[in-house]
Amino acid sequence: MNSSSIVRRRFLQGVAAATAVTSVRAQDDPLRFGMIGVGKRGTAHLGQLVERSDITVQAVCDIDSAARDAAQSAAQGDNPRSYSDYRELLRQSDVDAVLIATPCYLHAEMAAAALDAGKHVFCEKPLAISADQVQLVLNAARNSKAVFQIGQQSRNSPHMQDVVRQIHETGLIGTPLVIKAQRHSTPSRPGTRREGGTGQQRRFPGWYNDVKLSGDLIVENAIHNLDVCNWLTGSRPVSVYGHGKRYLPEPMPAGTVMMDGFSVEYIYRNDMHLDYSQLYLHPRALKKLPNGMWFVVYGEKGTIELDYSSWTFYDIYGDSAPVEHQAPEGIDLTEAAHNDFVRAIRENHRPVADIDVAATAALTSIMGREAIYQRRMVTWDEMGVSI
Ligand SMILES: NC(=O)c1ccc[n+]([C@@H]2O[C@H](COP(=O)([O-])OP(=O)(O)OC[C@H]3O[C@@H](n4cnc5c(N)ncnc54)[C@H](O)[C@@H]3O)[C@@H](O)[C@H]2O)c1
Repeated sequence: MNSSSIVRRRFLQGVAAATAVTSVRAQDDPLRFGMIGVGKRGTAHLGQLVERSDITVQAVCDIDSAARDAAQSAAQGDNPRSYSDYRELLRQSDVDAVLIATPCYLHAEMAAAALDAGKHVFCEKPLAISADQVQLVLNAARNSKAVFQIGQQSRNSPHMQDVVRQIHETGLIGTPLVIKAQRHSTPSRPGTRREGGTGQQRRFPGWYNDVKLSGDLIVENAIHNLDVCNWLTGSRPVSVYGHGKRYLPEPMPAGTVMMDGFSVEYIYRNDMHLDYSQLYLHPRALKKLPNGMWFVVYGEKGTIELDYSSWTFYDIYGDSAPVEHQAPEGIDLTEAAHNDFVRAIRENHRPVADIDVAATAALTSIMGREAIYQRRMVTWDEMGVSI
């Protein structure tokens, strides 16, 4: 069955099912979680969830029995049941919410099925790796009363929220016009990834370099940064052009294995322009262009320079001295994301990283990837998804 017929079938199922959210329970009963995919990221989530008194881990699911066993023992205080088939977990009426942390190509299918089954869903990014998959989950979410949250935890950062307020409520930089943003890092040795500046190398999971499973670097990885850019613009793209490929260990055309470098230029609906680049060729000691992740938002009255630790305002003509603001310390964004998910379920409202944020970020990344692969300008409209 092709993916558009799966989308259609699911949409009709969703309409027919008129989904009810899993059993009504007392407000202060712990939420009962099912974990789907307990590899590296799922285990990190699990480690935080088992520490909470407002959550119990009721079930774990993974196709890898060693991962299942490790998760069961990490959550032994909650004594979770174990499943190898996520559909079996979704049939359990004593599971209120699922956390999906499987490889990227499975997110949409699993999230849509979970919403159809009446479960609240916390799904790791990206929502999807194709436009059809985005549509699939959007349809399921529109037919469900359950809460959907995407694991784009930058949205839960009070620091980032403050900057967005400064731009769109306080008007600090006047009309925002242009964003330059980047994520540059030192090269990885073939088949390994350097993590968090610790100098440790780890092997990629098998699916990671397969662009049919991961969605490629711009979808699997840059989606966090592109989502922040979308948020900073207060808009969404209309078109994109870009170039990228695998530069090391040897040049390979885009669309074969995970790129290690690309540049993309987006035009937004409000006429803003984004120039984003991601590159794993950047020596740490390079002076003129700092490595790492940063965003610069230029406006008619001034500019904001932003990273995850601070932001600074520069008056456009230098009439006032730059003012730097440090991010509040001690905030764990994954914990903040869990808090928002629980609050949204308890209070019956949308989390900040909701289905629209998820779908917009996924489509932004997917259209950027297609522009790179097809070596042409790609438009939002040709993605064929309405959000
Ligand atoms: N939000 C973030 O900052 C962040 C950070 C890291 C990873 N992620 C995302 O989390 C997801 C998982 O990444 P990872 O590094 O943990 O990968 P991983 O390979 O370590 O873990 C994936 C797990 O899913 C399991 N799995 C595969 N197919 C399955 C199926 N059909 N049913 C059940 N389980 C299945 C695998 O056996 C594995 O244990 C990815 O989408 C990744 O992009 C997000």
